[in-house]
Amino acid sequence: MAESMKGLHRTCRCAEVTREMTGQTVTLMGWVQKARNKGGIVFVDLRDRSGIMQLIFEDGSVSSEDFAKAGKLRSEFVIAVTGIVEKRGGAVNANLATGEIELRVQSLRVLSEADVIPFPIEENSKTRDEVRLKYRYLDLRRPDLQKKLMLRSRVATLTRQFFAEEGFLEIETPMLGKSTPEGARDYLVPSRVHPGCFYGLPQSPQLFKQLLMCSGFDRYIQLARCFRDEDLRADRQPEFTQIDMELSFVDVDDVIDVNERFLKYLFKNVLDVDVQLPIQRITWQEAMDRFGSDKPDMRFGMELHDVSDIVRSSSFAVFANALAAGGSVRGINAKGQGSMPRKKIDKLVEFAKGYGAKGLAYIAIAEDGSRKSSFAKFMTEEELDALVSAMEGEPGDLLLFAADRQKLVYDVLGALRLELAKEMDLLDKNEFRFVWVTEFPLLEWSDEENRFTAMHHPFTMPMEEDLALIDSDPGKVRAKAYDIVLNGNEIGGGSVRIHQDDIQEKMFEVLGFTPESAHEQFGFLLDAFRYGVPPHAGLAYGLDRLVMLMAGADTIRDVIAFPKVKDASCLMTDSPSVVDTKQLAELHLAVKEETT
Ligand code: AMO
Ligand code: AMP
Repeated sequence: MAESMKGLHRTCRCAEVTREMTGQTVTLMGWVQKARNKGGIVFVDLRDRSGIMQLIFEDGSVSSEDFAKAGKLRSEFVIAVTGIVEKRGGAVNANLATGEIELRVQSLRVLSEADVIPFPIEENSKTRDEVRLKYRYLDLRRPDLQKKLMLRSRVATLTRQFFAEEGFLEIETPMLGKSTPEGARDYLVPSRVHPGCFYGLPQSPQLFKQLLMCSGFDRYIQLARCFRDEDLRADRQPEFTQIDMELSFVDVDDVIDVNERFLKYLFKNVLDVDVQLPIQRITWQEAMDRFGSDKPDMRFGMELHDVSDIVRSSSFAVFANALAAGGSVRGINAKGQGSMPRKKIDKLVEFAKGYGAKGLAYIAIAEDGSRKSSFAKFMTEEELDALVSAMEGEPGDLLLFAADRQKLVYDVLGALRLELAKEMDLLDKNEFRFVWVTEFPLLEWSDEENRFTAMHHPFTMPMEEDLALIDSDPGKVRAKAYDIVLNGNEIGGGSVRIHQDDIQEKMFEVLGFTPESAHEQFGFLLDAFRYGVPPHAGLAYGLDRLVMLMAGADTIRDVIAFPKVKDASCLMTDSPSVVDTKQLAELHLAVKEETT
């Protein structure tokens, strides 16, 4: 039977009881982690979000009525107890913060009973993900998930505090907005009042925050929920949270400066980690050339080497053909992996093929200096020597090469570099290596759409020195855009925005908008810019990704209370779901039968 709270007050949480409180009377409330009935004595581990406290019920210390109730306690019952803090009679539990003490209970209330739960509430659960997500409210009782969400809350609090002190205003922007087909796919919300019309849920507050700058708020921050209908991965959710900001009267360095100080403050206060400032900056081109990625993991080396010039005259057709087609030949040196068995090398080749490579050429250098290679027969000894030396190859090293289109070579070797680092155990979760990647290309060619698309978004400012190229060679124009990367994850990105009409018009033209279509989609922004717009710039962090890395989690699901799975459904609420025809009718919608 469930008892009430009448007249009872919790004095503190379980793990807030300390040895110094021995002899004091406290009232605790929480869930029964475990109950052991030993006849004349009952031990209970009581759990709340702070941790565990051992309770001891002894006939005589509690009324016989309460003692009888204690004997019937089972896991996950919710109880309230009042008792006296004592030194443990039995063995000290060094694994618990409260391991030296226990609570001798004087009175017990059973606030609610619990059915047998579908899986145990324990750290490092081995229960299948699907089951845990169906019962997410139970999964969230696990201490490891509780710690992660508490860390997330702390990050949010400190973020607000830091930016408030820096003069940022927290302003909310709408969830029901205008759908803009640029970027990822929108989630749409049908309008009841306007038949056939839809709101788009925001992919980010981008346009609204720029308008806030036009309105003169000068520094804006929001912990903003964003929605993107894209394929999910371990670091992506259909709805996620950004730490979104915009600043007026600034350039790249100003945005970087305040954000470096923010990261230092956050990591010091949450993890006691010292972030060294300034954070290293590399250009996008350098990131691609050295690491094959625009979000390089800087915790280890294994950098790419461009060996195109060295192999240019070799008779190995794979290399020669790639170069003739305007591509490149690059390699990485897996230090100390020269004795990798053939089978494992074959696996790496398969891995590379997964990224679109046609193959992966290698030279394995044995400890005695002898070489095994998949393509040595096509090369002279001198050519091989030059290649090994360009790769800084030493006895015991494994050299891996990809020859293809530029972008493919980067992708393949960038991914391979990470894969090898995992295998070679070079990645330390407790090391935090930041890097700013700057000077992104303004535009990206889309084969699918047969036009240039904005790499960041259409409001990103080109670099002044490249403006002249915008007509003749748009692909070469660099942008005033920057990403902040942590351990190989893009945790945030932003840019200086275009605030000049002529540049914005040019940008729309290059992106293939007609003046009419640009106006239809972004007219309100273009209008706003006609009435006095300050130069402005901004940045947004993926809060979930940032917290994931700070918490040492492997997926952002672990730092989101109620996440979605890969197909964007929620296993707990069973959403998305079919709705009533009446609801559909009100929204002027009809569902078409799938004809497959
Ligand atoms: P961007 O699109 O780069 O920039 O997004 C900013 C950051 O948000 C995170 N992020 C995601 N996190 C989880 N799930 C997703 N599906 C997801 N998509 C993005 C990333 C990313 O770095 N308006 C601009 C910012 C600006 O220019 O100020 C924007 O949204 O960590
Ligand atoms: P092949 O002559 O096709 O048997 O290739 C010889 C070696 O070159 C094999 O080890 C292939 O995996 C490798 N190889 C093939 N295509 C490429 C490529 N595009 N880049 C690097 N290596 C390749």
